[in-house]
Amino acid sequence: MMTQPVRVAVLASGRGSNLAALLEARNRGELPVQFVLVASDRATAGALRLAEAAGIPTLALAPRSYPDRRAFDRELFARIADSGAELLVLAGFMRILDGEVLAPWIGRMINIHPSLLPKYRGLHTHRRALEAGDREHGASVHFVTAELDGGPVIAQARMAIHPGDDEDRLAQRLLSHEHRLLPAVLALLATRRLQWKNQAPQLDGQALTTPLVLGAQGLQHSE
Ligand code: GRF
Repeated sequence: MMTQPVRVAVLASGRGSNLAALLEARNRGELPVQFVLVASDRATAGALRLAEAAGIPTLALAPRSYPDRRAFDRELFARIADSGAELLVLAGFMRILDGEVLAPWIGRMINIHPSLLPKYRGLHTHRRALEAGDREHGASVHFVTAELDGGPVIAQARMAIHPGDDEDRLAQRLLSHEHRLLPAVLALLATRRLQWKNQAPQLDGQALTTPLVLGAQGLQHSE
């Protein structure tokens, strides 16, 4: 019997290069998912244009049209539920989400964040890594919980900071790592190798206590 691909919705506020990486991984046959919705808080987001070109249903909701954050979040998550999505990916979604709407999605919702969490939650991660004199930077994919950028980290991509790096160069170089990291983690979730059990991640039935690391061969356990 053929199993149906897992239905996935993506939220993105910006250009959508991480969404593009997900679409490319799916087209290469590396990601057994069906994208059922790409939604944004910005009608001009490049991610929406990419989704349209790929024939994926899109949704743009303007936060200004709602009386408060919670009303916006409720509408957004009602529309996500209507899409039939089983998993939800935040790929550059630049809003804080209400804990109440997140609750039913905990364990089914991941976010990509451009830092080696728990370092540098929130914004300006590249600048903060440079200002701190860090020699290493990276990106993390984590399960989303009500705590901003605070849910359990599933996997990280690490890279060296070079002399002469500035914010833009760092961001640009990190993106190519992000574009491998996010599809690899989503593939683990889609194939159910990665699961959420007892409020924590499990990989292949074992508690995942330290993040996986992205290497040349893909995701691996850290030494
Ligand atoms: C990425 O750096 C991601 O880590 C962060 O927002 C950026 C989104 O870029 N959360 P894009 O829209 O996927 O190109």
